[in-house]
Amino acid sequence: MSTSSSDERSLVLIKPDAVRRGLVGEIIGRFERKGLTVDAMVLRSMDAELADAHYAEHVDKAFYPPLKEFMTGGPLVALVLSGDQVIEVVRGLVGATDGRKAAAGTIRGDLSLSNRENLVHASDSPDSAKREIGLWFPELG
Ligand code: PPS
Repeated sequence: MSTSSSDERSLVLIKPDAVRRGLVGEIIGRFERKGLTVDAMVLRSMDAELADAHYAEHVDKAFYPPLKEFMTGGPLVALVLSGDQVIEVVRGLVGATDGRKAAAGTIRGDLSLSNRENLVHASDSPDSAKREIGLWFPELG
């Protein structure tokens, strides 16, 4: 599916904790109610190779081994969302990394108490969105 030239795209992962907790519909509903468009979506698992590529900037950090174990530990939902300023808009809807500190009204602020099991990943810049969409949905590239 194509998007208009004014629309950005963002790669969003609904993480294994959200799938386990039955929060997929709740989370996608928040994106849809905001007015964003789902361009692509798949339920799949992240293997070790994809984890290392997706989190390339974090692989040497102390928190990476437990993050990798969590992210490869069960199915997740990968989405491409589009819309006006979608990258910034989605990060606002998702909230701060640590669910204990994220503002009420955000996905993490309302539904998470963790900085690891924090329900959602969202691209943080146009460059990372392009890179991440290429990893998860090479057919859209
Ligand atoms: S950084 O270093 O500021 O860029 O990191 P940050 O953007 O806050 O987080 C990057 C991703 O790492 C996850 N994270 C953690 N996982 C496990 N344990 C700890 N302590 C931890 N701290 C951060 C965080 O959830 C981010 O995951 P994504 O998928 O990018 O949201």
